[in-house]
Amino acid sequence: MAKVTIPTLKEMKDKGEKITMLTAYDYPTARVLDQAGIDILLVGDSLGMVMLGYPNTLPVTMEEMIHHTKAVSRGALEALVIGDMPFMSFNLGSFEAINNAGRFIKEGGAAAVKLEGCSHHMIEITGAVVEAGIAVMGHIGLTPQFIHQMGGFKVQGRDQNQAKLLLDGAKNLEQAGIFSLVLEGMPQDLASQITRSLSIPTIGIGAGIECDGQVLVTHDLLGITGKKPPKFVKQYANLHDIIIESVETFKHEVRSGAFPSEDYTY
Ligand code: KIV
Repeated sequence: MAKVTIPTLKEMKDKGEKITMLTAYDYPTARVLDQAGIDILLVGDSLGMVMLGYPNTLPVTMEEMIHHTKAVSRGALEALVIGDMPFMSFNLGSFEAINNAGRFIKEGGAAAVKLEGCSHHMIEITGAVVEAGIAVMGHIGLTPQFIHQMGGFKVQGRDQNQAKLLLDGAKNLEQAGIFSLVLEGMPQDLASQITRSLSIPTIGIGAGIECDGQVLVTHDLLGITGKKPPKFVKQYANLHDIIIESVETFKHEVRSGAFPSEDYTY
């Protein structure tokens, strides 16, 4: 596979080829996902919950994001790496947003950043980051950084007013210059309408089949957490049980003296 670039994604939408995106937070995962041919590796701020054990994504810092983005960039030879701007790294205004977005590119080695929200304020900031020469992926619908305003992780855009706000927000973000848009946690009909209204690709998560691509949190897809996943997650493996079984076997073999046998001994 050739190196995935931002123009590649637009070409994929135009040809009707679906785009694949998965989260990656570390070097070995980035290597494996890259080898499997995933188009985009997102260093999501979900790493706060998945990797660092925070209750939500709000506490994640720029330093944590940059640390993980560097590792993923080292592992991604062909996939496009996108760094997720954490809560309060862009909210105060354009100057801070450009400064922090620049860190993802300059220090983290990412090709682009992702930014949540489509209020007038967020659209202005998004436009300023794009104008500064940094590629931005938008993210609307169920945006986890707005968890308190949404009153929890709730599907968005179910009523007509909310749906119109999201459709208008998507169009305004496209006008502001984003190259792609994540649609999270919204009815399939709305995601489909947004996808048809934009010339840039949409990437869905809990937004139905008609988006131009799909993203999942890799740990959910691989079944590492051992927790019941939300409705929109398909678990393609149960690594949680495989890891427990392997580690328990190691423990029993060490205790019984079966490991290390002669095969593993100099
Ligand atoms: O942080 C994240 O992992 C995300 C994706 C779920 C889109 O924003």
